[in-house]
Amino acid sequence: MTSHSSYKVIYDTDPGVDDAMALYFALAHPAIELVGITTTFGNVSVDQAATNALYLTAIAGRTIPVSKGVAIPWCKRQEATPAHIHGADGLGNLATRQAVDAQLDPRSSAQFIVDMARALPGEITLVAVGPLGNLSLALMMEPGLPQLLREVIVMGGTVLEPGNVSPVAEANIWNDPHAADRVFAAGWKLTMVGLDVTHRVAVTVALFQRIADRHKHVATDTLHHAVGFYSGFYSGLYKHLSVTPGCFAHDLLAFIYLVNPEFFTVETKTVRVATEGLAQGQTIMNRRDFLGYHEAAWAIDKPRTQVCMQVDAPACNKLFEDTMMSNWLPRQA
Ligand code: BDR
Ligand code: CA
Repeated sequence: MTSHSSYKVIYDTDPGVDDAMALYFALAHPAIELVGITTTFGNVSVDQAATNALYLTAIAGRTIPVSKGVAIPWCKRQEATPAHIHGADGLGNLATRQAVDAQLDPRSSAQFIVDMARALPGEITLVAVGPLGNLSLALMMEPGLPQLLREVIVMGGTVLEPGNVSPVAEANIWNDPHAADRVFAAGWKLTMVGLDVTHRVAVTVALFQRIADRHKHVATDTLHHAVGFYSGFYSGLYKHLSVTPGCFAHDLLAFIYLVNPEFFTVETKTVRVATEGLAQGQTIMNRRDFLGYHEAAWAIDKPRTQVCMQVDAPACNKLFEDTMMSNWLPRQA
């Protein structure tokens, strides 16, 4: 591991199997300090997302503030939750759950984000891996948020890679395109980790088996179960994931970008989101810095996003395995 800085992070999430994978990577990584988890509808309802965030942190022996966020998209009609991908419970339909004693932070997720940003100006990184309603709402509550946060890293969107919910749209952006467009236009230090890179990094079920064998802990057993379910979906769609059972680690890559951005090649361009019609949810990147487009959104002085276009997949896999195999879990009672 080459990271030396430390990062105070609010994790905005809809757990979700790859969300759980990313959460445990963040807990295991020595340079990441999770100061809060904010939740949203997406892979599951927001109630289930909050329940899962509380559960996953509690069984890993951590106490981290978890708040409940937006339950529905800002403008569009809510889409059905993808139970066939993440399970009806978001964690691959767990047969049982341990009883955990963990309570939600009473604030809304947007309020939590605003409070933390005001309390620690310039220190907080927001890693957002679900639909972007909480960030959008927080921006409405505190227009100065872009200056108060250190940076924002979003898992979502795609430029050249085909979409995963339409030919051009990625699920997180498609679930709340109006909120996403507000986030891309806000003017903070923003990085997009989309399908252009997440579809290049597969993680195998065999690795999660090794992680579970190494720790013999309810947290890693839970993750192994969830990934087994999730990889069933991906193995049915992608040949290489059926030959070697596995899945894409979408949300994980947002945290890997945080700690090892040198694993990625980025282009810094203006990105906006199509909010209506057939292209709804498309992240449109202005790939040429062309001054003459009619639409004001593409003017040269508009905010830009660092868009991840290429990734060193073996380096990501090694970092993930080394981190998850480290001694990050407390002993079980
Ligand atoms: C994204 O959509 C969700 O299903 C995953 O958790 C990830 O955040 C991938 O398109
Ligand atoms: Ca997610």
